[in-house]
Amino acid sequence: MKNLAIYLIATLGLLGKAATAQVDASKELAYCTAQIQKTLKLTPVQKGSIPRSVIPGSADWKFVGYKDWCSGFWPGILWYGYEATGSKTLLNEATRFSAALQPLSEQHVIDHDLGFQIFNSYGNGYRLTGNSKFKAIILKAADTLATLFNPKVGTILSWPRAVPQMQWPQHNTIIDNMINLEMLFWASKNGGSRKLYDIALSHAKVTMANHFRPDYSAYHAVIYDKETGKKIKGLTHQGYADSSMWARGQSWAIYGYTMCFRETGYLPFLDFAQKVTDVYLDKLPADQVPYWDFNDPAIPNAPKDASAAAVVASGLLELATLVKDKVKAQKYRKAAEQMLASLSSPAYQSKDKNTAFLLHSTGHKPNGSEIDTSIIYADYYYIEALLRLKKLQMGMSLKSKLK
Ligand code: GLY
Repeated sequence: MKNLAIYLIATLGLLGKAATAQVDASKELAYCTAQIQKTLKLTPVQKGSIPRSVIPGSADWKFVGYKDWCSGFWPGILWYGYEATGSKTLLNEATRFSAALQPLSEQHVIDHDLGFQIFNSYGNGYRLTGNSKFKAIILKAADTLATLFNPKVGTILSWPRAVPQMQWPQHNTIIDNMINLEMLFWASKNGGSRKLYDIALSHAKVTMANHFRPDYSAYHAVIYDKETGKKIKGLTHQGYADSSMWARGQSWAIYGYTMCFRETGYLPFLDFAQKVTDVYLDKLPADQVPYWDFNDPAIPNAPKDASAAAVVASGLLELATLVKDKVKAQKYRKAAEQMLASLSSPAYQSKDKNTAFLLHSTGHKPNGSEIDTSIIYADYYYIEALLRLKKLQMGMSLKSKLK
């Protein structure tokens, strides 16, 4: 019932504004930076307390250590907050929280998430400051991530451990892994080995060939024979069913293939980014924020996933700049703005309920964890999308720094 109410509030709110769906990026960025300041006050000073999520009805963050897969999002948010404001305090905090992740670049890699961890923190830090120590850490992490590449399969082993249904020790690749290719592309162009580029390109091509159903919806995971490289099967881990479209998985595909086209100029990626986008857009509910899985039979009483909407909004703002067809470009830009309008409405912003930016994300529904929750990666992609929108509204390129 609660989700139905959210849906109705957001839908009715949007219908009134559907024609315009104007988002005041500066105003929403000011909201985000005010929330950041409040979260900083709640965050214990000791190293290793990184905000990750807030359950409904509580204002208390769950904090995690630097090894958690979500550890890079909070430093990344601080870097974006610094970019939005130029605030020295945020620069210092972004530097401090990034520093907590430094050991990751020196340790044995435990999974593909190293990209999320290091590139969101140090990647943004280097982009904004040019600090050569940050660059060295990213290059080291890229080499470490590349050790998970299996040349017989042509993709990175996402989870080098036994996971239910994953037929360990066969090779698994999850769609989320697409995002972590960005660090490899970046490293190969900034002093790292050309091999990193080849690994990322191979991963994206092999995933494009094996990870999608005929309608371009993504499997969460694909298992490959680690010796022959042959695909064994597609399945899910965090989605409703092996055959269903898990919303965040599809969002990683949309964002991932858009980024891969930006980094490679390989035209099939641009075409593919549009195909994986169109199946997602066609099935969205009216408020532009997906249910956690498009095929959950409990819809409209299933939980939403604001994090998927934030990832897609950010990805589509970029896709709109890359697509040559003006009508399609306009469609993606408008869709992204409508998603951001919805996320910026009272139905989705946390406001004084807690100090995150957004409510209503779903982390791991089959596991019963982080359902209808504020989650740090929703906030990361929301503030990233707002910064992108602001740059576009100011006629700036997405690559430029706001301040
Ligand atoms: N593993 C990343 C996600 O939950 O989307």
